[in-house]
Amino acid sequence: MTILKELACAKINLSIDVLGIRPDGYHEVEMVMQSVDLCDELYFSARADGKILLLCESPVTGDPEDNLVMLAARLLQNRYDVNEGADIRLLKKIPVRAGLGGGSSDAAATLRGLNSLWDIGLTPDVLEHLAAELGSDVPYCIRGGTAFASGRGEKVRPLPSFGDWELLLIKPAFGLSTPEVYGEFDRREQRARFASRIIEDHLRSKDSGGTSFSILHTLFHNDLQAVSCAMRPEVGQLILDLENRGAVALMSGSGPTVMGFFSSAEERDIACAEYLGTGYQCHLVQTIL
Ligand code: C5P
Repeated sequence: MTILKELACAKINLSIDVLGIRPDGYHEVEMVMQSVDLCDELYFSARADGKILLLCESPVTGDPEDNLVMLAARLLQNRYDVNEGADIRLLKKIPVRAGLGGGSSDAAATLRGLNSLWDIGLTPDVLEHLAAELGSDVPYCIRGGTAFASGRGEKVRPLPSFGDWELLLIKPAFGLSTPEVYGEFDRREQRARFASRIIEDHLRSKDSGGTSFSILHTLFHNDLQAVSCAMRPEVGQLILDLENRGAVALMSGSGPTVMGFFSSAEERDIACAEYLGTGYQCHLVQTIL
């Protein structure tokens, strides 16, 4: 029996600009996204009876049927009249409700994996369109890498590479709900900073010659960070603590995970070791080019 493996990598946001609320209730955003090598693993094998079964050691949703993996598999099967089914095993490594896009990446990996397993032959462009039906960040996760996302997040264009970085991802013990963070964002007065366009210009400029540590703090920005810090002050504490250790620190997505970029491996490893004892999860990860 053929078992097909797909990696679903976490994403970080180098920037999030929230430009306003749309008539459909979503927010118009601009974001620079980047994949990192903290990945869930998915294994697919075909079933002749047409059933789709998901096995996940630590279920992410109360009902496995609500898992984005199942929704992605059913979407593909129904849309393309596929008679075969699949057994899917999901090994979670990416923390949930963390701002790291784990669920979105699992959904994208399912579309890629089943497109191959069932031999449907869809191109990445078509998979991206389909992915938008599953969630705002799913289209980006089809290809990953460094990319600019706009609209509600579903319009994706690739960017020149942000480069090869090792960074810490620190995830407090609690999670945050994206709709709640956006809801709180709407209660506050905001002014758009367009940080994502500045990063895009930087990455596209011919003389950028890579991105140096010393300018990271001028590039990174997340409009949701102040909101999440107000909802959970521990996030702000974490950012301050990382900055006091010499890091450039920014919350990813709607949080609560904070990423820390360090100028030296020594500072980074000391910080990681100390966080491991605090009940927070600490992952040393690398950007994926
Ligand atoms: O698209 P997705 O299902 O991942 O979005 C989850 C929730 O996050 C939405 O229901 C909405 O409340 C919020 N959201 C938003 N604007 C976006 C993306 C997500 O308000 N651009």
